[in-house]
Amino acid sequence: MAEIVLGMWTTHGPTLSTTPEQWLMRVKADKTRPSHPFRLGNYSFDELKELRKSENLGEQASLEERTRRHGRCQAAIKIMADQWEEVKPDVAVIMGNDQKEIFNADLIPAFTVFTGETLYNEPASPEQIPLMAPGIHEAEAGHNPPEYTEYPGLPELSKLIVETATQEGFDVTQMSKLPVHQNHWSSGVGHAFGYIYRKVMRDNVVPHVPIIQNTFFPPNQPTAKRCFEFGQMVGRAIKAWDSDLKVAVFGSGGMSHFVIDEDLDALFMKALAERNAGVLTSLDERYFQTGTSELKNWIAAAGIIFDTALEGDVIDYVPCYRSEAGTGTANGFVSWS
Ligand SMILES: [Fe+2]
Repeated sequence: MAEIVLGMWTTHGPTLSTTPEQWLMRVKADKTRPSHPFRLGNYSFDELKELRKSENLGEQASLEERTRRHGRCQAAIKIMADQWEEVKPDVAVIMGNDQKEIFNADLIPAFTVFTGETLYNEPASPEQIPLMAPGIHEAEAGHNPPEYTEYPGLPELSKLIVETATQEGFDVTQMSKLPVHQNHWSSGVGHAFGYIYRKVMRDNVVPHVPIIQNTFFPPNQPTAKRCFEFGQMVGRAIKAWDSDLKVAVFGSGGMSHFVIDEDLDALFMKALAERNAGVLTSLDERYFQTGTSELKNWIAAAGIIFDTALEGDVIDYVPCYRSEAGTGTANGFVSWS
């Protein structure tokens, strides 16, 4: 019987792979975006600035503070990668999402399991770079390899997960090859997976099952409850797998962004520490907008990890502000072994 030996939840965004100076590249877009979801409302940049003026977020976004927080994130990434090396899992299951890197608007499945022998990633071509959103190309080394690289899938476990899903009433999409799009800004597997390959596995990528949840794009995002239950099902499939291999499970994405909400993140971290599925699955769905929606990858991973004897803790939580309106990305790093 396969054994789950490591569970990791990590953010994966551009702030982890760019300099504190480069964090500001997205401020212009923050200011022009007409509406930012925050808590249960929607606000312009100026409205957020007014709403949050007592929080001294301008100070928290100073270069000095950004530099300090950047350093904390890098230290946490190192701890995770060192732990990965030490535990040496044989295979992995990664709960992630797609931001129209793998799929485009033509086709957005709710749950997809990659079942192929190999998948790939590659650096952006000169034609793709101008098509990217601000600050994304600069962060590329955090998730794309320097040259075309193939990575091993894990068809045996992937197919078992698809079968288990179907038997249990989850109608999943199976994907054996990454789609190729013309004139598209991204190719290969998305950053939710590439980040884990590069930053946690340090390019020593083990055979793994990428599972893609549509957390971002309305209206077919699975609810938090559905994601948790989906994760529980994946956990049962892993346990039923007739294999001696050691399995690692990842939840890749989150935490609150592009407007940071430290209260929401604290509630989340507490629920994880207490294995409190009730809290994770009963949050108002309106919290799970844009980047914050990626916390559903954490929830799905929790569905797997809560049902193991693993124990662990938060390595760090670092709200990385880039503006006085509270825009930025909150980074979180949690490991259970
Ligand atoms: Fe993301």
